[in-house]
Amino acid sequence: MNYDSFYRRSIDQPEAFWAEQADKIAWYEKPKTILSQDKNGFYRWFEGGLMNSCYLAVDYHVEQGRGDKTAIIYDSAATKKVVKYSYVQVQTEVAKIAGALQTLGVCKGDTVVLYMPMIPEAAFSMLACARLGAVHSVVFGGFAPHELAIRIDDARPNVIISASCGIEFDKVIPYKPLLDEAIHLAEHKVSNCLIFQRPILQASMVDGRDIDFISYVNASKSVDCVAVNATDPLYVLYTSGTTGKPKGIVRDNGGHAVALNFSMEYIYDVKPNEVFWAASDVGWVVGHSYIVYAPLIYGCTTVFFEGKPVRNPDAGTFWRVIEDHKVNVFFTAPTAFRAIKKEDAEAKLKTKYDTSSLKSIFVAGERCDPPTLEWLQQIAQVPIIDHWWQTESGWGIVANMMGVERFPVKAGSATKPVCGFDVQVLGENGQQLGANEEGYVCIKLPLPPSCLPTLWNDDERFITSYLNKFDGYYLTGDGGYIDEDGYVFIMGRVDDVINVAGHRLSTGEMEEIVGSHKAVAECAVVGITDELRGQRPIGLVVLKDGADFTQDEMEHELVQLIREQIGAVAFFRNAVVVKRLPKTRSGKILRKTIRQIIDGEQFTVPSTIDDVNILTEIEECIRNRKIGVFQSEAKQAS
Ligand code: COA
Ligand code: AMP
Repeated sequence: MNYDSFYRRSIDQPEAFWAEQADKIAWYEKPKTILSQDKNGFYRWFEGGLMNSCYLAVDYHVEQGRGDKTAIIYDSAATKKVVKYSYVQVQTEVAKIAGALQTLGVCKGDTVVLYMPMIPEAAFSMLACARLGAVHSVVFGGFAPHELAIRIDDARPNVIISASCGIEFDKVIPYKPLLDEAIHLAEHKVSNCLIFQRPILQASMVDGRDIDFISYVNASKSVDCVAVNATDPLYVLYTSGTTGKPKGIVRDNGGHAVALNFSMEYIYDVKPNEVFWAASDVGWVVGHSYIVYAPLIYGCTTVFFEGKPVRNPDAGTFWRVIEDHKVNVFFTAPTAFRAIKKEDAEAKLKTKYDTSSLKSIFVAGERCDPPTLEWLQQIAQVPIIDHWWQTESGWGIVANMMGVERFPVKAGSATKPVCGFDVQVLGENGQQLGANEEGYVCIKLPLPPSCLPTLWNDDERFITSYLNKFDGYYLTGDGGYIDEDGYVFIMGRVDDVINVAGHRLSTGEMEEIVGSHKAVAECAVVGITDELRGQRPIGLVVLKDGADFTQDEMEHELVQLIREQIGAVAFFRNAVVVKRLPKTRSGKILRKTIRQIIDGEQFTVPSTIDDVNILTEIEECIRNRKIGVFQSEAKQAS
């Protein structure tokens, strides 16, 4: 197949293109229109189509006689347990959870928050919500109660589903106290929580509110799928924006199912009888799309992995899972491979396993740095495909479409725009930039199916965050360029969002939290380069006059504060006390310059700087704390 003509058709004739793709899924009633605009002028796909995402992912396969096929392989390196669920078994589990939710009053359109570790009941519960036409909102287990509370208040769930604990390496992390604290902090009061008690830790229950998941679900009647409109929401997934309030990304049912089904064939080049494994977490978009919905809708076997790439028990875990389950297509974040490379640089552990089932490895979630790409190419001996996407899109925006036409890989580029995405690089005034010119990476409207139609309960923020900057375009928030061959290079965020171990976090939010400390007069949080995690945040703080804290005390307090408010996952480990922050004459903090100093990058002193001497002061403070480039400098000196 020829990429150029296939792609061109998706842009020039989007309705005809996506109507054909929509025909590949089992609608209860076909859509009346393919592409329309709602009262706000926002684009909607497949209006009037009746369907159910759980039906497509589960019941449809059973109806087609594939009920005995393995749907989900739960492989828990954390608990050394493997359980396989056939499509019919998934159907049984999901239908009962849906029944349980229904008796707790959950109806079509209601919301359910999930705060779960990587146990199969997380996937079953997501599908159970979809079965009822209820909207799930999964919150990543690494987030602290404060973050969970913000999401509870925005999503206003009828029911919360959680578990007694998560397991991280050899640590048992009690989730239930975190949930209790979040419910206490939230204004919205939830009537019931279904708590899955894991054998390793039994959580204490709150009378009248908490219900034992296992016994309640077992006693529940199975319920059938409810027909929903293609444009009805399937889920809300919160992601970091530039402020303390996360953005509730809305995913509709119809566009999502059509796009994910399309992606399995044309991006991942996987067949329905194959095994697909995305090593991520259901708390992130990769988990939603490629652990749960896409592989199941497409009829594959999906691996549901609980564990880490290293120390579970060693850096050979990924290769072990690939051998054990004959994984054909594997997908994870580059940071996972950096972790493996750090512990097993020569990939000796890989030689213990037969990974010959593997056809390709896809990476996303953050930039794939060329050294990691090259290392992986050498050791894996299969195509390594970087692809770029966001929570907002729910699937690849730029990729090497393996099921269409395979292009040579260029390190640092995710290759070419995926069908439906008219990716353009614009300058500050909205002008289209030429080849190799760096600017704002934007997508010309309409966005293809699966992309967010709006933000949860916040049309205004949808417009201001994404649509206002350039008329007729969606602003991705990433900067980059397109080269003379049409390859897209994503160079990083142009806003206050950073990427820590593939986790998207807001430095703006961290600044709000650091700035709330009683001793802090002002602060800046920037994302510096981290060998393993890609980026990590560090804070620079100016203390109030008379504040009685040493540098060490201040750092300790702020590290704790971020841990309490955002969670351990933020990986905030350094706060440096400085006398002043570098600013422009108009008072804007020069965050980019701060980051460049810490990373040891060459930079031009901004002409608008208020006082250039501050840069030397900052450099001195950072050097004293041996952070960033000064850490390696200190190591070399010793
Ligand atoms: N529940 C509770 N806590 C969690 C958690 C979860 N689901 N995930 C992470 N945490 C905690 C960790 O326990 C750790 O806590 P600590 O500071 O008390 O030790 C902290 O958050 C930081 O975790 P992480 O950044 O994951 O560091 P790590 O050393 O545990 O693991 C990697 C490092 C690179 C191995 C790991 O981040 C990884 O596998 N990343 C893959 C990324 C990925 O899948 N991204 C999804 C997008 S595709
Ligand atoms: P998330 O919404 O958590 O998936 O994060 C999306 C952001 O991660 C994007 O806006 C990019 O900044 C970054 N990102 C994801 N995939 C890639 C990639 N393949 N290359 C470069 N950056 C990426």
